[in-house]
Amino acid sequence: MELGRDITKAAQLIREGKLVAFPTETVYGLGADALNPLAVAGIFQAKERPSFDPLIVHIADLDMVDRLVLKRDSRIDLLAAHFWPGPLTIVVEKSKEVPDIVTSGMDTVGVRMPDSTWALELIRQSGCPIAAPSANKFGKLSPTKADHVRKGLPEIDYILDGGETTVGIESTIIRLSPSGFVVLRPGVITREEIENYVPFDPTMAAGQNVEAPGMMHSHYSPDKTLLFDHDFKNLSLDPSRAAFLSFKKVEHENYGMVIAMAPDGELRSYAVRMFAVIHDLQESQWDYIVVESLPEIGIGIAIMDRLKKAAYDHLKKLGEAQ
Ligand code: TXA
Ligand code: MG
Repeated sequence: MELGRDITKAAQLIREGKLVAFPTETVYGLGADALNPLAVAGIFQAKERPSFDPLIVHIADLDMVDRLVLKRDSRIDLLAAHFWPGPLTIVVEKSKEVPDIVTSGMDTVGVRMPDSTWALELIRQSGCPIAAPSANKFGKLSPTKADHVRKGLPEIDYILDGGETTVGIESTIIRLSPSGFVVLRPGVITREEIENYVPFDPTMAAGQNVEAPGMMHSHYSPDKTLLFDHDFKNLSLDPSRAAFLSFKKVEHENYGMVIAMAPDGELRSYAVRMFAVIHDLQESQWDYIVVESLPEIGIGIAIMDRLKKAAYDHLKKLGEAQ
């Protein structure tokens, strides 16, 4: 494993069918040539990711869209004009050129143009779209620094170190239907923002089969026990052994330590540091990570989605033990 800032070398490795971790604006991705099924198989192996969980394909320019999708829908161009490069993944019918392993055998593909010069330059120099999930073992915390990748996936070929990511949580994923869109995974681009350009499709949202495969109750699971404050209190655990992630306030009685996640009161600020703070606390003296519930509006929906999934297994285990 090597860590460096050499895009030319990273692109060479991608062309050779190897794996490269690279920064995007959201989280670090574990990339391979999206059109090389053997290279893509390596991603699933390195992440220990189940084959039913499809990968997002990253592009550097709109010409690449034509190779990936069955039909160049004008709504892709409309959304691209407003949100790309940026943290929005659009799921549409795929072309024959996209290997089945990328999409877990489904007839759709998720496409996104990341807003990171590292990622865009890597894709350009590789000369191919790059399939990339977050660069962590399946179910674990997403990486927002090269060092997180080094610790979580020590065996991969090259980590392109572009510093800390600037958004901090994964892209919003939407699925386009004939009459509109549904959100498969919330992110910092909200449903309301997207509705300015494409209508929301309530019938599809109410129907079956709109869940993105790979979306589990449990995900982003830290090695330390993470719980919401109300569950922590109900379980009568010892707050002096806990670090408390508050939204804004710093005074909270009893907790061993308090971290104000967004002193400026902005949900974006919370999102940017969320994974990095939890990564650090995994290696700290504190036995518990306790999080404050946030209102589920706007970006709060995306943050709460990640926190609920991070807490899921821990609550289940402690709940059963009682
Ligand atoms: O911000 C991000 O999206 C990051 C960076 C690296 O781009 N990537 C990321 O990938 O979060 P990953 O693999 O951790 O999550 C991708 C999720 C899958 O778990 C799946 O639920 C959904 O995207 N997905 C991908 N292709 C899909 C498809 N064709 N249909 C439905 N859902 C899809
Ligand atoms: Mg992931």
